[in-house]
Amino acid sequence: MEQRPLGKTGADVGVIGLGTWQLGGDWGDVDDEVAGEVLDAALDAGVTLLDTADVYGDGRSEVRIRKALAPRAERPFVATKAGRRADPFEAAQYTPENLRAWVDRSRRNLGVDTLDLVQLHCPPTAVYSDQRVYDTLDGFVADGSIAAYGVSVETVAEGLTALQHPGVQALQVILNVFRRKPLEELLPAAQKAGVGVLARVPLASGLLTGKYDESTTFPSDDHRNFNRNGEAFDVGETFAGVPFEVGVEAAREVAAIAGDAVPTAAFALRWVIDQPGVTTVIPGARNVTQVRGNVAAATMAPLSDTQLSDLERLYDERIRAHVHDRW
Ligand SMILES: NC(=O)c1ccc[n+]([C@@H]2O[C@H](COP(=O)([O-])OP(=O)(O)OC[C@H]3O[C@@H](n4cnc5c(N)ncnc54)[C@H](OP(=O)(O)O)[C@@H]3O)[C@@H](O)[C@H]2O)c1
Repeated sequence: MEQRPLGKTGADVGVIGLGTWQLGGDWGDVDDEVAGEVLDAALDAGVTLLDTADVYGDGRSEVRIRKALAPRAERPFVATKAGRRADPFEAAQYTPENLRAWVDRSRRNLGVDTLDLVQLHCPPTAVYSDQRVYDTLDGFVADGSIAAYGVSVETVAEGLTALQHPGVQALQVILNVFRRKPLEELLPAAQKAGVGVLARVPLASGLLTGKYDESTTFPSDDHRNFNRNGEAFDVGETFAGVPFEVGVEAAREVAAIAGDAVPTAAFALRWVIDQPGVTTVIPGARNVTQVRGNVAAATMAPLSDTQLSDLERLYDERIRAHVHDRW
């Protein structure tokens, strides 16, 4: 798989990573056995970056990663996140003491002395300009608890603020065929700053596989059921903020643009990894077939000019009004 440098961290990571929110919670049930199979399949297929968080299943995703990696000689790059164990709307919770406790808990969950990367997990906007938070994270780098830190953001504006801070090594943002705003300013700014970019929610929570229709339902413990209007967290994390029925219809067009020979999911991922500034894309997967389908995007041909302009037109006609000015 093509490897790219993750900013200035010194690590090279594959263009297709694995998101592991599904292996924690909020996506219906994924049992221990399947979670282990998903991780093994990804690593065996050449995935070298895993994205997790301390709150995915309250640590379950991190612990599952530790168990899957235990028998392996080679470790992938593991990017975790901290900050949502606090009240997510309360900037005052991002104290040195809380950050210390969250980082130490992730070190225990993952079974390592030094975390490869800690990303601030979509904190309140004010946190991205709080120098004390960056000073605390610099201290963790200095004492060896973390090798690097970055930010996961909801909005382009938050990303641009975070990029002002020289210690930030990685930026995670929603980027997909239905979420194009980061292409305008944020990705060029990250590139200029030498900051690695992890593109998340690349399949718009599964919409961009083209497999749902208007009658598709999701389990009660799946955020695609309980967070459609932002009831539990930012609505942009669910279907990338696109109303479900609008997304289903637009995804049919994406599938037609991809054509019969190419799976729509891989087509959508290829679009993401070919955007200048993107280091890696981190699709979530709930089974081995999905993992393998996603990894295939790494060796696919780039999209044609016609496909690219068709996707741009589709965005302008159907999606832009729902998302562009919100994030
Ligand atoms: N705030 C943050 O920092 C934040 C927020 C959200 C996500 N993330 C990270 O980003 C990762 C990716 O985002 P995401 O998981 O939310 O959304 P996503 O990658 O856009 O969509 C994942 C869903 O797409 C479907 N899927 C994946 N591969 C498929 C394939 N090959 N064929 C058919 N269906 C496929 C599955 O849906 P079904 O379940 O219906 O099969 C899967 O649950 C997460 O796992 C997490 O690590 C971070």
